[in-house]
Amino acid sequence: MEPRKIRDNIYWMGVQDWDSRLFDALIPLPDGTSYNAYLINGSEKTVLIDTVESPLFSELEAQLKDVPILDYVISLHAEQDHSGSLHHILSRYPDAKLITSTKAKGLLMDILPIAEDSIITVTDGETLSLGNKTLEFIYTPWVHWPETMVAYLQEDKILFSCDFFGAHIASTDLFVTDEARVYEAAKRYYAEVMMPFRKIIAKNLEKISAYDIDLIAPSHGQIYSRPEFIIEAHKEWVGSSLKNTVVLPYISMHNSTKIMVDFLTASLVKKGVKVELFNLTVTDIGKLAMALVDAGTIVLGTPTVLSGPHPNVVYGAYLANALRPKAKFLSIIGSYGWGGKSVEILAGMIPNLKVEVLDPVLAKGTPSDVDFEALENLAQTIATKHQEHGFK
Ligand code: FEO
Repeated sequence: MEPRKIRDNIYWMGVQDWDSRLFDALIPLPDGTSYNAYLINGSEKTVLIDTVESPLFSELEAQLKDVPILDYVISLHAEQDHSGSLHHILSRYPDAKLITSTKAKGLLMDILPIAEDSIITVTDGETLSLGNKTLEFIYTPWVHWPETMVAYLQEDKILFSCDFFGAHIASTDLFVTDEARVYEAAKRYYAEVMMPFRKIIAKNLEKISAYDIDLIAPSHGQIYSRPEFIIEAHKEWVGSSLKNTVVLPYISMHNSTKIMVDFLTASLVKKGVKVELFNLTVTDIGKLAMALVDAGTIVLGTPTVLSGPHPNVVYGAYLANALRPKAKFLSIIGSYGWGGKSVEILAGMIPNLKVEVLDPVLAKGTPSDVDFEALENLAQTIATKHQEHGFK
């Protein structure tokens, strides 16, 4: 794709990656993604903000064919989807300097063949004059690495935010046109990589609220011409409010756990609690992560395999523990044939979750009346606790 004009002397560059379906060999990309770079021609200096994955550099290089001089290339975040072509840029423009945060410098030198003397570090709040335009660097750490920062173009009121506010969508739209679709993709991205750092993300949101922002230009997805839409969405996600929802990831081998899952679901629904079921043999992990953003309770459902939980449920518990959702309650249901330690193993896998663990329900073989009564009690406990905590 050709460079696209955003404002006078400000251009989108980069790659629309329609085909990728997995990011970091982990995160599903149902809509592909984009790697955005931005060129700013100041009256005295020209800068490129971020780059693209190294194997995709030829596309960015072609977009730069009419850019004879580049004074600076800015790296807002050291991860390779944005930094991966920095060394190619520095080879093409040997007089250019690489500008990055103090923490990113070492990371970039670890990752890429970049000489130390080509790097200039900037501190939080430092500015860079391009002549008639001024870039201000704002440290916004832990989006989702420790070194992340954003850049604010003061005269044009544009926030270049890299991963912050990003959404994995490939599109020919330069600006966001379908906010509902972008909300979903941005929530997925937040859930997958930023949720564990939500307290710091909240501080970053507070920090940027001091700026008058006309456009947010992220490095994944389209540009926001209504920045308040995506800022408010992030405030909602990092906030303390929880939904009257149970997220229930499960596996069933011979139907006993499935019978329990269905019984518990029906009982919760009767009591006014929403349930989101995720059969872990077919689940899109991104959808599970999204559901974890604001669910009040997590229930894990597992059969017993080789005396422990099913490996897919182990994966689900590991993921939930790593993502640190703000759920307040957790329980475990499932079945076993002759014995096992599924509950102990799963309960030991979630030290990061600040949850009250509700009494588990384990059935021996096919669930009996006693098990259904225990599930009914669990549903009632969850409904009561959600009501007491005002989950909506
Ligand atoms: Fe889009 Fe953390 O890289």
